[in-house]
Amino acid sequence: MTRPGGEGATDLRRAIQTAADSLAAAGIDSARTDAELLAAHVAGTDRGRLMLIDDPGETFQEAFDELIAARSRRVPLQHLVGTAAFGPLLLAVGPGVFIPRPETESLLEWALAQALPQDPVIVDLCTGSGALALALAAHRPDARVIAIDDSAAALQYTRRNAAGTQVEVLAADVTTPGLLPELDGKVDLLVANPPYIPAGAELDPEVAEHDPAHALFGGADGMEVIGPIVGLAARWLRDGAGCAVEHDDTTSEQTVAMFTDNGSFASVVPHRDLAGRPRFVTAIRIARS
Ligand SMILES: C[S@@+](CC[C@H](N)C(=O)[O-])C[C@H]1O[C@@H](n2cnc3c(N)ncnc32)[C@H](O)[C@@H]1O
Repeated sequence: MTRPGGEGATDLRRAIQTAADSLAAAGIDSARTDAELLAAHVAGTDRGRLMLIDDPGETFQEAFDELIAARSRRVPLQHLVGTAAFGPLLLAVGPGVFIPRPETESLLEWALAQALPQDPVIVDLCTGSGALALALAAHRPDARVIAIDDSAAALQYTRRNAAGTQVEVLAADVTTPGLLPELDGKVDLLVANPPYIPAGAELDPEVAEHDPAHALFGGADGMEVIGPIVGLAARWLRDGAGCAVEHDDTTSEQTVAMFTDNGSFASVVPHRDLAGRPRFVTAIRIARS
């Protein structure tokens, strides 16, 4: 029998170090972290308990090597473990759905801080895995939360993640003129992290080859989906209700201009993410006359 910290643990440490070196050689900045997270995934534990394992088992090394080889080919870590963290949530992700990003947590924080009435109506446009909708639904169990996306592949994940929650998942293209008129003036909070990268932008292989292009690119200037979303917000938000729309770090001014030029919004404010980059714009629906 091996003791914690014994021979098996030394082998595990060595395996992780070798794996981290391979990942670093493949150009992965978070090599050590990724190696530990993949080791923990194979060992069926979490990263914090990894070093308490005295024997990861006979099949560990082969399974770990396979995952490290895939990660070295720049398959996203989240696809290899099948989940992505977003705020307090762990969401199912994989090929066909956008992996939620930490920068969107800045928009989430803003949304969580909004004062809403009892039983509010919350809409998450371009919901992908359901990240924003599910985080807001968990925060407001009394809310009606509607999560909208037009990708059948993404919606499989949305539905799986939303199972057992109050989130209503809807398949719809948010650029459709006149979409869901029954929501006109009824929505208390609208959030969106739409596709917004300008066409032709250079991206890491994890993003370019594994996030769906439909989730990433927002036309030549990155604003193709943001424009219709501003129009929906003008229609759907009740007077005095707020919305937040994420954008590319090069399009903060265009996004502010879209809200301002629409004429239905006050308090149009650009916000930065935790890395200090321009990331989302918030606006409040002015009262209808
Ligand atoms: C950048 S991803 C964001 C996903 C999620 N909101 C998040 O933060 O992780 C954009 C999402 O918008 C969806 N999408 C793209 N164009 C759309 C459209 N016209 N109508 C509805 N959804 C759209 C994509 O399928 C994708 O899931």
